[in-house]
Amino acid sequence: MPETTMWAVRLHAHGEPDVLSYEEVARPVPGPGDVLIEVRAAGVNPPDTYARRGFENVPALAGLPPELRPPTLRLPFTPGSDVSGVVVEVGADVVDWAIGDEVFGLIRFPNPHNGGKGYAQYTTSPATDLARKPATVDHLHAAGVPMAGLTAHQHLFHVADLQPGATVLVNGAAGGVGHFAVQLAKVRGARVIAVASGRHDAFLRDLGADVVVDYETADPRDVAHDVDLVLDTVGGPDGHRLLDVLRRGGQLNQVFVGEYHRGEAAARGIAIAGGQVHSDGAHLAHLADLLEDGRLRVGLDAVYDLADAADAHRRAEAGHVQGKIVLRVGG
Ligand SMILES: NC(=O)c1ccc[n+]([C@@H]2O[C@H](COP(=O)([O-])OP(=O)(O)OC[C@H]3O[C@@H](n4cnc5c(N)ncnc54)[C@H](OP(=O)(O)O)[C@@H]3O)[C@@H](O)[C@H]2O)c1
Repeated sequence: MPETTMWAVRLHAHGEPDVLSYEEVARPVPGPGDVLIEVRAAGVNPPDTYARRGFENVPALAGLPPELRPPTLRLPFTPGSDVSGVVVEVGADVVDWAIGDEVFGLIRFPNPHNGGKGYAQYTTSPATDLARKPATVDHLHAAGVPMAGLTAHQHLFHVADLQPGATVLVNGAAGGVGHFAVQLAKVRGARVIAVASGRHDAFLRDLGADVVVDYETADPRDVAHDVDLVLDTVGGPDGHRLLDVLRRGGQLNQVFVGEYHRGEAAARGIAIAGGQVHSDGAHLAHLADLLEDGRLRVGLDAVYDLADAADAHRRAEAGHVQGKIVLRVGG
């Protein structure tokens, strides 16, 4: 292959996973402030599948008012915002990175029309979106971290101000965001109640959850009381039921779209807070430190070759994800 081209996954139409096409395309060139990364692994996140569908026919987005729908991406495009790889070229004005550095990052998020383009052999990234990949973690695991890890980090420590000794309930605890939230809350010294289907019980206890609630056989409201913070990664029309587990003065962080009965929450003295994850190399560097010394681990649900991105999307949409789905790029 000429040095000016590469293999990448692209969409020319929205739809089912088989619209993901593996093609030879032009290799990107880093602009000022950017680096060119030879991608070794790319993370798969729910927004990749929503974008593939053009934000239509996504059950989780049903009922979302049109003004809250993300803009549909211009076709054709390469999906993916999470990568781990090696810097092979640095643009003008880049001082923090050099050729050969191993980096990972959530690239240009949220920026729907100039996104990460991570499902590719090469991608460019603003230098500030990256952190050094921990030497103790391989590229496959590192690529699972950026979006989900930053979402958990920013929700627990910025949208909320989680304190040692607090009790946190994480709903959707075994998924990408949830499994990082469980571990980060433990690192902060909180008590963690993890809500997930029963198949994840051992996984969540191994990550440090103090209590695991199988939502298929038990109601979290019968188990959890006087909780300080709920991190809800599931949302949906029943999201408001989690108000019942919170103490007066507590907070519910909605990571996804849900119905939370805001008036009722206010009457009970409960704050409802939301927040969109954003690229942040400094926040990611904090996660890298925790990964480096083993206090944060990455659960890998499944790994696929880049050319099999459609299978990765089928897995993501089948549900019950435990940890992260990752694409292997290159050897
Ligand atoms: N606000 C933001 O910036 C932001 C950032 C990232 C992601 N998100 C959104 O957050 C959501 C989660 O993302 P993710 O990457 O963690 O997804 P994911 O990896 O697919 O995990 C979702 C998890 O939810 C669990 N789940 C499904 N129904 C449940 C229920 N009724 N009760 C409890 N758990 C349930 C699933 O497994 P089990 O059913 O087997 O337990 C799965 O482990 C997505 O909708 C995503 O779009 C938002």
